[in-house]
Amino acid sequence: MTRFAQSAVVAASVAAFGALFSVSAQAADLAAGKAKAEQACAACHAKEGNWSAPIDPSYPKLAGQYKDYLYQALVQYKDGRRKNGIMAGMAAALSKDEMNNLSAYFASLPTELNTHR
Ligand code: HEC
Repeated sequence: MTRFAQSAVVAASVAAFGALFSVSAQAADLAAGKAKAEQACAACHAKEGNWSAPIDPSYPKLAGQYKDYLYQALVQYKDGRRKNGIMAGMAAALSKDEMNNLSAYFASLPTELNTHR
């Protein structure tokens, strides 16, 4: 394979990977995540994921957390790798699409999750 052909293959693979990645990134529906969050999560995590309004200091802030972290936490509450009686019940009722939408929504909010000096 010529050097040009090799780099064309690499470029095509990178483009294909980028397309796949952006499809999954776009698949999240922020409006649906917001609606679900206000209905099912706000009672504990506050209206905007504890942004300046913690209901209880032991309830984690979700606003501005990394999307992948939130999604992973929900998956693990559902499959039992993370054990918490309250969140196991919440996650049990969520589909993967709902988890994806909720995670994207909370990740999109302004955050208090930063390092204070
Ligand atoms: C009845 C109260 C309650 C409700 C309702 C609730 N949560 Fe939670 N959530 C908690 C508590 C308490 C924890 C901390 C659990 C632990 O220590 O693992 C938590 C933890 C989490 C975490 C892990 C955060 C972290 O920083 O590790 C995520 C993600 C989460 N909740 C998402 C949601 C979503 C999404 C909803 C709505 C579908 C929801 N929660 C509804 C009480 C609640």
